[in-house]
Amino acid sequence: MLAMNYRGPGRVRAEEKPMPEILHPEDCIVKVLRSCICGSDLHLYNGNVPDTRVGSTFGHEFVGEVVELGSEVNKLKLGDKVLVPFNIACGKCSFCRQGLYGNCHESNPEATAVGGIFGYSHTAGGYDGGQAEYVRVPYANFGPTIIPEGMDLDDAVMLTDVVPTGYQAAEMGGIQPGDTVVIFGAGPIGIMAAKCSWLFGAGRVIVIDQNEFRLEFVKNYAKCESYNFRSLGDPVEFIKKTTDWLGADVCIDAVGAEAAGSAMQTITGRKTLLQAGSATALFWAINSVKKGGIVSIVGVYGPTGNLVPIGNVLNKGITIRANQASVKRLLPKLIDHVQKGTIKPKALITHRMPLRNISDAYRIFSDKLDNCIKPILIPPTAKE
Ligand SMILES: NC(=O)c1ccc[n+]([C@@H]2O[C@H](COP(=O)([O-])OP(=O)(O)OC[C@H]3O[C@@H](n4cnc5c(N)ncnc54)[C@H](O)[C@@H]3O)[C@@H](O)[C@H]2O)c1
Ligand SMILES: [Zn+2]
Ligand SMILES: [Zn+2]
Repeated sequence: MLAMNYRGPGRVRAEEKPMPEILHPEDCIVKVLRSCICGSDLHLYNGNVPDTRVGSTFGHEFVGEVVELGSEVNKLKLGDKVLVPFNIACGKCSFCRQGLYGNCHESNPEATAVGGIFGYSHTAGGYDGGQAEYVRVPYANFGPTIIPEGMDLDDAVMLTDVVPTGYQAAEMGGIQPGDTVVIFGAGPIGIMAAKCSWLFGAGRVIVIDQNEFRLEFVKNYAKCESYNFRSLGDPVEFIKKTTDWLGADVCIDAVGAEAAGSAMQTITGRKTLLQAGSATALFWAINSVKKGGIVSIVGVYGPTGNLVPIGNVLNKGITIRANQASVKRLLPKLIDHVQKGTIKPKALITHRMPLRNISDAYRIFSDKLDNCIKPILIPPTAKE
């Protein structure tokens, strides 16, 4: 089958790889109909995630058709069209029982932090991902969710990560009615966090980025304010000034390790990898939230993190909440929002590209070329 193949930092190809096989009675095989490239894939692509092995296939956002079933799968049948949460979760361990599906202990037992994630390095369990024609899906009685009748596959694929992550970013912010919410990052995740902040009763939503096209898009899509940090001078001072010098009630980091905006952070966190990514957006979030405020982090960083103003976290008494999104927990209410039209996720898809052209797709998304917000990959076996 055709699949994405990682060759080292900055180098990916589409190549022939062996078909995936059922390895456990609760596995199924899914023929991929759509997959996406995510901002999280860029951390792998740029060499920021430990133990990303040459030869692995990325891709944690995909939908497809069930084509093979392990002997103990009883919740699915052949031909079912499913959307597959990016977290690999057993549904039964003590973490899953608390709804912490991003922290499943069964799918990645060697780690005490994150659970298994499709196509996300051996740090996240070493599973191959869905930027391929076929993919093995473990715990098939739990994760894969039947796509509701009539739902567009483009909307469905956005429910595997982007919509739940944006929603959980707003949820972890503990937004109270009338709150001012500042979101760093106008990528798909920041755009969705802005949209979902209103669902929690925000009174003002401000998005900060440097990409003019994305800032214009989010202003229209999420009906919020948006500002370019390149023309703000100091974004922290700007936010304080616009909030009566108190700071925002809630700040959301929807950028993570690839952040721009500080030469020192970029050199230490992205160029020399002396720290696990550049913490510029997180730094700004901590310093521009009000005393007693909440910082919600969905932007992904590597296992260690330096050069963050941790002393300010203490002195301001800030609550910081962070996690991978618990997709399966949020799906029922988010499917409802998509079906009612309150959230229209496919509007974020700007590029549809054949899986064969994956190296171009990574380059366009990584360098934010051609007004790209979200690229979607179509495998040759999937008929449009
Ligand atoms: N926690 C989760 O479950 C989860 C799920 C999906 C994605 N993520 C993470 O969320 C982050 C965003 O993902 P995405 O797909 O939107 O990525 P993306 O790369 O498309 O978007 C990131 C945006 O941040 C902007 N940016 C860079 N530096 C900035 C700064 N200092 N301040 C404000 N904006 C800045 C960039 O211009 C870009 O538009 C990534 O770190 C990704 O790994 C987390
Ligand atoms: Zn993702
Ligand atoms: Zn579990």
